[in-house]
Amino acid sequence: MKFVDKIKELKKQKNAIILAHYYQTGDIQDIADYVGDSLGLSQKASEAKCDRIVFAGVYFMAETAKILNPKAKVLIPDREAGCSLADSCPPDRFADFLKQYPDYTVISYINCSAAIKTMSDIIVTSSNAVSVVESFPKDQKIIFAPDRNLGGYINRLTGRDMVLWDGTCEVHDILSTEKIIQLTMAHPDAKLIAHPECRAQVLELASFVGSTNEMIRFTRTDSSEKFIVATESGIIHQMKKESPGKEFIIVPSDESCACNDCPYMKMNTMEKIYRCLADESPEVQLDEDTIVRASVPILRMLELSKPGR
Ligand code: 13P
Ligand code: SF4
Repeated sequence: MKFVDKIKELKKQKNAIILAHYYQTGDIQDIADYVGDSLGLSQKASEAKCDRIVFAGVYFMAETAKILNPKAKVLIPDREAGCSLADSCPPDRFADFLKQYPDYTVISYINCSAAIKTMSDIIVTSSNAVSVVESFPKDQKIIFAPDRNLGGYINRLTGRDMVLWDGTCEVHDILSTEKIIQLTMAHPDAKLIAHPECRAQVLELASFVGSTNEMIRFTRTDSSEKFIVATESGIIHQMKKESPGKEFIIVPSDESCACNDCPYMKMNTMEKIYRCLADESPEVQLDEDTIVRASVPILRMLELSKPGR
């Protein structure tokens, strides 16, 4: 039997669902019950009525699913699937950093560990970061962690002066303006779209900046037929599915390939998904206290992001 059939069978037997991020390989996205960006995945995890959640993404995402749905067993295909951005903000250093800013509100991007979430007043994702920051008074003193590129983007857009933690994503921060300019010259009919984890110089060149979900929606609804895409390669699968006639060019990370893969996201495979469901391991384990404290800023974000608010 193929892995896809074995996974389907086990999913039924174990009352499990698979949640997958857009940066997963196409086969994983196609077998998932839901594919989405960090906000959509968090919303789905919190609503899921199932015994097991297989999280095809990276660890901080699976951890967030556990925080939002503690009764479910949350399984991750590869325990080593981390995130350079989350790793750039170690909890002990962050705690020391916060001591310098006692009267500041702490806004953290969801790409951080559960420990950082327990030290935060509210969590944001790339799709609601601007509106969440704007929900605070203009003169509110704010610390934004851990992504300096997303934080800088929000500062420029809103005219704020948030103090930024100096973290980056190794997949987005590497994308250079030189490469992008070469691509735009070679494809003058294409629109550049970028994820806000890219550097300021890249974002300034883009016709559209948004979360993975927003980028996919933009390519579907915009009249352009061709897009230069500054984010991780996995997103192209969904873009092609939703807009089969359009052309997508990924901004490559280096000269060796025409791709830009997140090494952590790409640790997951169909075989590992099957194995983790069969073995019920690796499982995300968090202590009760961390779950309770980390859930407060995430639930605050979900409340603010409800449709119609
Ligand atoms: P999105 O929430 O936009 O999908 O971003 C997640 C991520 O890890 C980007 O690198
Ligand atoms: Fe983390 Fe960057 Fe990978 Fe997203 S693309 S999971 S931010 S390392």
